[in-house]
Amino acid sequence: MTSASPWIPVALSADIEAGTSAGTLVHGEERVVWRDDKGEIHVWEDRCPHRGMRMSFGFVRGDHIACLYHGWRYDTGGQCRYIPAHPDLDVPQTIKVPTFAATERAGIVWMAQEGADATDLSTLPETAEPVRSLFVDLSTNAALLAVTAAPPEGYRPVESGTGLVTFQGSDVTALIAAQPRDVARTALHITVTGNTSAATRLDLILWATDLRNRLEARSLEAA
Ligand code: FES
Repeated sequence: MTSASPWIPVALSADIEAGTSAGTLVHGEERVVWRDDKGEIHVWEDRCPHRGMRMSFGFVRGDHIACLYHGWRYDTGGQCRYIPAHPDLDVPQTIKVPTFAATERAGIVWMAQEGADATDLSTLPETAEPVRSLFVDLSTNAALLAVTAAPPEGYRPVESGTGLVTFQGSDVTALIAAQPRDVARTALHITVTGNTSAATRLDLILWATDLRNRLEARSLEAA
């Protein structure tokens, strides 16, 4: 990954099952992450062009997602294909949800910003096991500094890039990818490769939970 990667992590792959959607924030903007019945991942603006309902409240039906409010259906390209109140209407091409290029790598869903190139992610493992996502009330820089300063026991930081920290254990590598939800909130998506036993993952979950508790306590003290 380059030092100016335009890819932003938006979810653990394992958290978005086929036929489901989830809303999230990226730099304060609402996004929906959804997976169609073929397993393809999609990241869009989380706003229906009709009356602005969140698409993440909608229903995934095969390779379409239907808005909760009036049932307008959108294909995987974001194009509206069907309006229940006007079933015979040839829906205008202008009715479309803005979409973003999306991919999966290292057990994480990534959303492209302008200028993204798939090779930006090529240094990451293709797959990884999920640990958990951690939501903290810190800027992304502050969250990554806190993570780097407190590695899990038996791990050492071996690499960091924009929005990314990697810890190396004896037979396991943990990856922490930071999603800037807004200027003061960050999601840390944690995955692991190598020895991905249940015990290893549990240790990392406990480390992450302890880290969040300590960060919350620090925020309360500062308030
Ligand atoms: S707001 Fe989405 S269909 Fe009306």
